[in-house]
Amino acid sequence: MNVLILGSGGREHTLAWKLAQSPLLNQLFIAPGNAGTAQIGINIPLGVSDFKAIKETVLQHQIKLVIVGPEVPLVEGIHDYFSKDKELNDVAVIGPKKQGAQLEGSKEFAKEFMIRHNIPTAKYQSFTKETLDKGYQFLEELKAPYVLKADGLAAGKGVLIIDTVQEAKRELKEMLTNQKFGEAGQTVVIEEYLDGIEMSCFALTNGKDYVILPNAKDYKRIGEGDTGLNTGGMGAISPVPFADDKLLTKIEKTIIQPSIKGLQKDKIDFLGFLFFGLMIVDDKPLVIEYNVRMGDPETEVVVPRIQSDLLELFIATTTGTLTNYKIQITPQSATTVMAVSGGYPEKYENGKTITGIDKVTDSIVFHAGTKAVDDKILSNGGRVLAVTSFGKDFKEALEKSYANLKKINFDKMNYRKDIGFDL
Ligand code: AMP
Ligand code: GLY
Repeated sequence: MNVLILGSGGREHTLAWKLAQSPLLNQLFIAPGNAGTAQIGINIPLGVSDFKAIKETVLQHQIKLVIVGPEVPLVEGIHDYFSKDKELNDVAVIGPKKQGAQLEGSKEFAKEFMIRHNIPTAKYQSFTKETLDKGYQFLEELKAPYVLKADGLAAGKGVLIIDTVQEAKRELKEMLTNQKFGEAGQTVVIEEYLDGIEMSCFALTNGKDYVILPNAKDYKRIGEGDTGLNTGGMGAISPVPFADDKLLTKIEKTIIQPSIKGLQKDKIDFLGFLFFGLMIVDDKPLVIEYNVRMGDPETEVVVPRIQSDLLELFIATTTGTLTNYKIQITPQSATTVMAVSGGYPEKYENGKTITGIDKVTDSIVFHAGTKAVDDKILSNGGRVLAVTSFGKDFKEALEKSYANLKKINFDKMNYRKDIGFDL
């Protein structure tokens, strides 16, 4: 089977690396890909929102399966585009249609879904420019800190956690009347602050059956000790050491199952990954957010732990044969640490020559933001490389990732030295 992966980050390199191991794979294409994916498949230079160019590529290379890495093309309706096109409707797409993608594309939609289906989540209300005064009132009723979320996609930057009610009011006004997050912030969800520990769970589903993938914890802040600005993610660990069977059963029964049943009740046709961002508060899991794709850098630890053939699993998902699928997962721990460009998540420079990848032993280097130019690999993004390792526990795995990171170098390279510090 010929397969196309859409995207260009560490997530997509990891998916490519895994699919390339499948005997069911014929040719692998990645669009647009990076210097890492170019080593295992064929990169096609096109934008993930350019549906027409994607269609041409799919037809030209007789691609029968498309895996959508990032959320934007899903929210824009790439799966609907494929279903409606006569020439493409025999091509399977991993990733939900527009309606299902609203679980990530609209915080308000996701909250309404959770309330409707009794899925534990933080108390909330949503507001627009017209109801700003009611928003102020609601803030007065809550206790600090205050959580403000732009309704739409804001590239991971749309959530504000604020200490004082005065500042929360000011920010709410900025979002609703001054378009602080553009269109994404025309509706703002204000919710109760949950004080707990975060973790993420992932399911692959056809909307009816589902397979639970390894769980993970990511580290979003740029600074050590979880300080400073939010990033796409600076590192991840799988499995989450505190997630025992009791907690995982609770998550499946109170969150995963009601979410899948909710999709059915609402007649939302959903095929793809469902990512549950959770807060565990006194042993009770609550949903902070849904994503409708895999996480990055979570994929860099989740997918390497899957021993089953991922292409076989994708085919089972798209052909309605997921029932009774038994996924094999290694009991080993995996960790990944991101090497990022100096300045990220604010301004940074691209085009730095990366050295030392060839010296890495006993870890896998997944490319996140890289570009091959002649025989050099250059940085080409804020997050540049993810160094993934295995170990009997996360500490052993982390030691390997850190030892190998010391061999890699590019100008102003930065990484967090304390992944897993809170565990
Ligand atoms: P989100 O984009 O919804 O995942 O939010 C980004 C981050 O904000 C999460 O990873 C949490 O660390 C934090 N966060 C979001 N909602 C809440 C909440 N209700 N209580 C506490 N922290 C939250
Ligand atoms: N690492 C968080 C995300 O992919 O949304």
